[in-house]
Amino acid sequence: LYHVLGAKQFSRSELEELFAASRSMEDVVRAGGDRRHAGRIMTTLFFEASTRTRLSFESAMNRLGGSVIGTENAAQFSSAIKGETLEDTIRIITGYSDLIVMRHTEIGAAKRAAAVSGVPVLNAGDGAGEHPTQALLDAYTIQKECGSLDGLNIAMVGDLAYGRTVHSLSYILANFKDVKIYYISPENVPIPPSVKHYMDNKGVRYEETTDLNAVAGSVDVLYQTRIQKERFPSPEEYDKAAGQYIVDAELMNRMRRDAIVLHPLPRAGEIAEEVDADPRAAYFRQAQNGLYIRMALIDRALQAE
Ligand code: CP
Repeated sequence: LYHVLGAKQFSRSELEELFAASRSMEDVVRAGGDRRHAGRIMTTLFFEASTRTRLSFESAMNRLGGSVIGTENAAQFSSAIKGETLEDTIRIITGYSDLIVMRHTEIGAAKRAAAVSGVPVLNAGDGAGEHPTQALLDAYTIQKECGSLDGLNIAMVGDLAYGRTVHSLSYILANFKDVKIYYISPENVPIPPSVKHYMDNKGVRYEETTDLNAVAGSVDVLYQTRIQKERFPSPEEYDKAAGQYIVDAELMNRMRRDAIVLHPLPRAGEIAEEVDADPRAAYFRQAQNGLYIRMALIDRALQAE
């Protein structure tokens, strides 16, 4: 079964294949979609809120002719609220559908699901762990916008401890040559040691700093993130991290003419709306790319089944 559980599972050649497939999905969407997966059913099982991930997956399945089932909010409206285990829930859904897309509050939940699933599981975010399909669309966006991922300087900014997208994106970037990452965060939410350990083993150059202004002028990609308020142990810890890094017109003036700004979204004030009109603001194009990447992933998973 073709599960997508974490970003470390992707090799460079798999990424290149996936990006090529995503390119061809852009043509499929322009042509109004096709019926290649008619009769197939995808379940969306989301225990946390989502706009982009869930709706782009659902749109992707519909564009490929398939159908989608799911509860509005699995934490509240599935039988998990009656005490059903995740494993039992997955066993049941396996009998109803051909593919499961799951977002859960716990790190490692997608792996638990895959261990008992009879159909592919795509991890749509597991707590503060990983968000591999987001990282795939991030990397696809960087390739489209910058031409290549090799040789880039990339700043990841914000809540690097609880922000699962930066963990997965780091693992994806480790496949490319001469990448340098600047991890820029408040002191209480640094990039986790486990991510640094992986990057060390892969020989990826990185630097940790709290000074965004000093780095802004030398990067190709500024990847801004939201401070994940819902994951902090206390309001006091959140207050320590909040509001430290805002991408605004002044910061954009420090950046190179050919640099881009990304954000997995949603934003909560960390990119000023005045930046949206700048052609270097690529975050809405990035969100659109999620549709093509997820179409390619669904297609791959259903073909492999
Ligand atoms: N980027 C992202 O995961 O957005 P959603 O939480 O809206 O799915």
